[in-house]
Amino acid sequence: MAPIDPHSFTDSTHPLTIHISLSFYFDFSTSTIAASALLTLRHPHSGDLVIDTRSLTITSVIDPITNTQLSFHLSPNVDPIKGQPLTVSLTNSSKILITFITSPSSSALQWLTPPQTFNKKYPFVYTQCQAIHARSIFPCQDTPTSRVRYNAKLNIPHQLSAVMSARHVERRAPLAGGDSGYACDESLWCAEGRVVEEFVMEQPIPPYLFAFSVGEIGCREVGPRTKVFAEAVPAVLDAAAKEFAGTEDMIRVGEKLFGEYDWERFDLLVLPPSFPYGGMENPRMVFLTPTVIKGDASGAQVVAHELAHSWTGNLITNKTNDHFWLNEGFTTYAERRIVEAVQGEDIAALNIGIGWKGLVDTMERFKDNMEFTKLLTNQEGVDPDDVYSEVPYEKGFQFLWRIERQIGRAAFDEFLKKYIAAFKFQSIDTQMFLDFLKASIPGIENDIDLKTWTEGTGLPPDAMEPVSNIYTKIVSLAHEFKQGRMPSEDEVASWHGQEWELYLENLPKSVEASQVTALDRRYRLSESKDYEVKVAFLQLAIGSRCSEYYNVVEKTLKEVGRMKYLRPLYTSLVQGSAGKEEEKIFAQRVFAEARETYHPIAQGVVESILSKHL
Ligand code: BES
Ligand code: ZN
Repeated sequence: MAPIDPHSFTDSTHPLTIHISLSFYFDFSTSTIAASALLTLRHPHSGDLVIDTRSLTITSVIDPITNTQLSFHLSPNVDPIKGQPLTVSLTNSSKILITFITSPSSSALQWLTPPQTFNKKYPFVYTQCQAIHARSIFPCQDTPTSRVRYNAKLNIPHQLSAVMSARHVERRAPLAGGDSGYACDESLWCAEGRVVEEFVMEQPIPPYLFAFSVGEIGCREVGPRTKVFAEAVPAVLDAAAKEFAGTEDMIRVGEKLFGEYDWERFDLLVLPPSFPYGGMENPRMVFLTPTVIKGDASGAQVVAHELAHSWTGNLITNKTNDHFWLNEGFTTYAERRIVEAVQGEDIAALNIGIGWKGLVDTMERFKDNMEFTKLLTNQEGVDPDDVYSEVPYEKGFQFLWRIERQIGRAAFDEFLKKYIAAFKFQSIDTQMFLDFLKASIPGIENDIDLKTWTEGTGLPPDAMEPVSNIYTKIVSLAHEFKQGRMPSEDEVASWHGQEWELYLENLPKSVEASQVTALDRRYRLSESKDYEVKVAFLQLAIGSRCSEYYNVVEKTLKEVGRMKYLRPLYTSLVQGSAGKEEEKIFAQRVFAEARETYHPIAQGVVESILSKHL
């Protein structure tokens, strides 16, 4: 008996689930789902089987073959990270039918009331399961070591529609006689005004890639395998269709570099502003924040990243979150190769430079807790949402870039293709990657210190800042700002969001308040439509105690729930002790007022930032 994942109760001696059949009855009036899950194990099992759950009420556990009740125990002890183990006792059986009800506070789900939507007419709900939230929607062995196929029936009000990261089978009337799969009473399932949307996922996925959204959803076609979905607002759909028009070109680049696209569809779903991430690589349908729609096609970078996950992350998956860099480091590398191919080397270098600066800053931030500056981490007793950082992305990128420099691009490209083909639809760990690397490129361990890269803290000496004219120019302009020189109109004439982002991030954390206002008076950064720019500027304003921008900070914290913006803004308000009382009170008030509009994951993350500093 041994756990196979620090974030799951799954035991090494228990068979893993290979298929799940789900029935969901959505009750928007209580923000709950009455549901059933039929789990099929790889082989029959006798004795206890432990399954992950969080904030689920279990109503029954049945052996569907004999139709008898199985005895089960839901631990009353709630592990703050892992949730509550559900133990079911089996006798030579491979199928378990569990009926349950989710809770309004299920951490994967955000329920929006009609006033919280754009059209203000209908409610909306969506999921975010990574890292360990799938267990708050259905009982499962919530570890990426496991891969499941599934089908799902979503019973919803007929005014709404449902989308999933799975193949849509049909939208139809509910049927009497077993259609509900015991999710709820048949009278509810078949009530007037309800419809059923059916989906099937034929490619096996780790549970964190399970995703759906229900609401008043519309779509536009943007390519042969891509539609963009969003709340049915013509202006939003049109803007999204325009922003993502180049998607098919990127898929083709991806296929050329990494091998065939194995997921058939690559649809995009633009969520309401509270979506906690920039993008989430749910297979067949990527979920995106609306903040990527900037009207200048720069949202393509986030799409390139989530697309790249189709190979690195979704085809080859990290075995546990300790190996998260295998997902995000490879994907950051792959994303930049796609960006380079479609937008050119300069833009790619700019992205590498923004990443480099972020990485150097992150190393500084973690200097008292170097554990999480490693690629291979030990997350025993650690909530992955709490230690989320740029390290797995940018240090992972740096490691792969280092290998590319060593063996040359052509050889590295060949290696990547081979790696993906060898491990697709598998979950792997760092050692498996290293073994494959050493076998494919004999002697690599003599040229690169693989152990330092994967197990060491901080930045290895052979990490590298990018070299490019535009990158170097922007960084030196930022240094000149310290001497009081602002860039001229000419110098910034060709700058877009990313140039400004790089510039702002290379300024000192704190400058004279008068310099902040002068910069903004000239370049209107606090009014930027590009949140990357706006938030980088607001961070500088907070660091410089320039309180005239606090109203913009408040407005920003109340209109978006993307954690990439919430984290630095709340952190710069509350960190450091000397004389920051006003900012701390301000942060607490804004959070109290905005809390309800954030996704539960973002609520948790902001709470943990505030509690660390207050
Ligand atoms: N898979 C991540 C998002 C994620 C990570 C969710 C960990 C939950 C836990 C996604 O692919 C991602 O990295 N998104 C970035 C996009 C960026 C790097 C282009 C984001 O949200 O900012
Ligand atoms: Zn990613």
